[in-house]
Amino acid sequence: MSDSRVINFGAGPSVLPDSVLQEAAKGLLNFNGTGIGIAEISHRSKEFVAFLAELEGQVRSQLEVPETHSILFTQGGATGQFSAIVLNLLARHRLLHPDLSNDERAMDYVVTGSWSKKAAEEARRLGGGQVNVAVDARPYSKDGKSFDNIPAHDTYTFSPNPALIYYCENETVDGVEFSNDASSPASFPFHLLPQNTLAPLVADYSSSFMSRPIPRLADHAIIYAGAQKNIGPAGLTILIVRKDCIVDVDAAAKLGAMPVPITMVYKTLADNNSLYNTPSVLAIYISGLVLKRSAELGGLKYYEEVNKRKAEKVYAAIKEGAEKGVYQAKVKEGSGSLMNVVFNVLGEGAEAKFLSGAEARGMQALKGHRSVGGIRASLYNAITEQQVDMLVAYMKEFLEQ
Ligand SMILES: Cc1ncc(COP(=O)(O)O)c(C=O)c1O
Repeated sequence: MSDSRVINFGAGPSVLPDSVLQEAAKGLLNFNGTGIGIAEISHRSKEFVAFLAELEGQVRSQLEVPETHSILFTQGGATGQFSAIVLNLLARHRLLHPDLSNDERAMDYVVTGSWSKKAAEEARRLGGGQVNVAVDARPYSKDGKSFDNIPAHDTYTFSPNPALIYYCENETVDGVEFSNDASSPASFPFHLLPQNTLAPLVADYSSSFMSRPIPRLADHAIIYAGAQKNIGPAGLTILIVRKDCIVDVDAAAKLGAMPVPITMVYKTLADNNSLYNTPSVLAIYISGLVLKRSAELGGLKYYEEVNKRKAEKVYAAIKEGAEKGVYQAKVKEGSGSLMNVVFNVLGEGAEAKFLSGAEARGMQALKGHRSVGGIRASLYNAITEQQVDMLVAYMKEFLEQ
């Protein structure tokens, strides 16, 4: 047993900055000079309410969230939102179009990886509308069955008046990410969305939230993220919701929409400043400390540059290894994630050897997700460029062996 910290390349829960954890340790004993620890203080105390408002302010200012959108905090993880989004947006659609049958309520899902696939499955399970897969990336993959690409814009088919349009910006398991460069073929096709209407566009940003600015943020109905990748511990889910999507779900239920469990109702969260019931106080605290630190470092512009450099270094090492027949990129060029870089180590027993060599050098959690195998290096904000340099040095050293 060691008491020193390893380099944790895990996909989530994932590494947090040492300085934040040290400050949080003090807050566990005495939160902001109250004499009460953060895990013990009332969520209705003026000190905690002020802290929550500060966290909201950090998200709003760093992401430049306009006043058209509310910022809400909840629990239940991103998976909770797979359900909450469907229920709230079907209620909105019902209020806007009370006379349509459920078969006429389309829910468009862009399926580019395991998480958007799961979200679409949940929408199908809940019912209340028809799931339309606007595009499935697998037929466009190298082997015809893997999530290894962002499909070309001309492959998408959106419904004319959907209740929601859903995509996952960064697929944590498969390492596939939409480009934030509008001119890239791997960007999200915003120009294909239904025009002249407030499109109910939803994005799962769980594994890239606060790692760089969000393109066309104001054009989204809902952006959401679980905290446990870039900003804090598990237990906190952050939502950015356009105000027209915060609707009276009970009025919709009277018109035939599905009832919505109270903790999932966006209006309940909004009307109560995210304090309808006890929130995940500790996760909020640590996330607030992380975002304060990130503002001090230069905010999203700073992280965008560093994160790009970090990922480019790892992709370059994979390329070098591919030329030598040792590594194999799993994702098509241009569709690769900056946050979760995935690749194979070729040859009998080579992957296990790579992983044990990494562990011996203090680098852990590099094993790919159990559903896809291979190696996955998660390069979230708290992974420093120096730590990435150590990984790259090891990847090169491995090539020489
Ligand atoms: C992109 C994405 N969406 C959804 C989820 C599910 O999140 P949770 O475990 O918080 O429900 C994850 C978890 O890793 C994820 O990476």
